[in-house]
Amino acid sequence: MEWGMKNRLSRLIQPDGKALFLPIDHGYFQGPTTKLEKPGETIKPIVQYADALMLTRGVLRNCIKANIEKPIILRVSGGSSVVGEDLANETIITSIEEIIRLNASAVSMSIFVGSKYENQTLKNLARLVDECEEYGIPVMAVTAVGRELEKRTARYLGLCCRIAAELGARVVKTYYCEKDFNKVVNGCPVPVVIAGGPKVGSQLEVFEFVYDGLQQGAIGVNLGRNIWQTQNPVAAIRAIRAIIHDNYTAQEANELFNKLIAEKD
Ligand code: 5RP
Repeated sequence: MEWGMKNRLSRLIQPDGKALFLPIDHGYFQGPTTKLEKPGETIKPIVQYADALMLTRGVLRNCIKANIEKPIILRVSGGSSVVGEDLANETIITSIEEIIRLNASAVSMSIFVGSKYENQTLKNLARLVDECEEYGIPVMAVTAVGRELEKRTARYLGLCCRIAAELGARVVKTYYCEKDFNKVVNGCPVPVVIAGGPKVGSQLEVFEFVYDGLQQGAIGVNLGRNIWQTQNPVAAIRAIRAIIHDNYTAQEANELFNKLIAEKD
């Protein structure tokens, strides 16, 4: 592996082999998502606990100070919206020159396997990998399910992750699933991180799926709404960080979470 690629990956994946990515890219198809109306304000208290920040160039340029120390994962696919015909109809929306100009440590883009736009989005990935590898920039593939959250089974996610890795993604983001998540990770030859999806019922549930996902081989998370849409984003991200980097169990993380909230009050 070239030095530049190694260097960028080592900024994202920490010396313990784990990673906590904080995505705030949701506006690229959802518009001003709840609690992300002013992304710069949303991340102020929590970004220090993340290993990297995932976002689009528009939010990066307009809402994030250029002296930020966290590595940037630039979301470079888009072109559809929640009110449009099909969320899967994405193209690559950022040039390689812009990726380099913005000093991205990595890029991310979605693939929609099994959708009408499967071929288009997989070709997007292959082309992006070709361009980014030339400059030592890792590509993180996002195995997107659009509105079809029921697609989150080990069989489907395993298929998506493996295809993404075969096409050259250096990291794959997928969803956790309760049954056979180890098969998703074991069938994927590159590191896997877990996204959260829409906000779940309790914070303990989040800690449980993060803990379980890590036990089954994920290297960490790319977790957004279940951090910054919660009542206590700082306590939430600190507890998740403790699971990822300090080997806390879900229960221990929950205790830390409650302690941090009590201290705040
Ligand atoms: C949006 C994304 C998000 O970055 C990803 O889904 C993680 O965020 P969340 O935990 O809120 O699902 O790719 O398309």
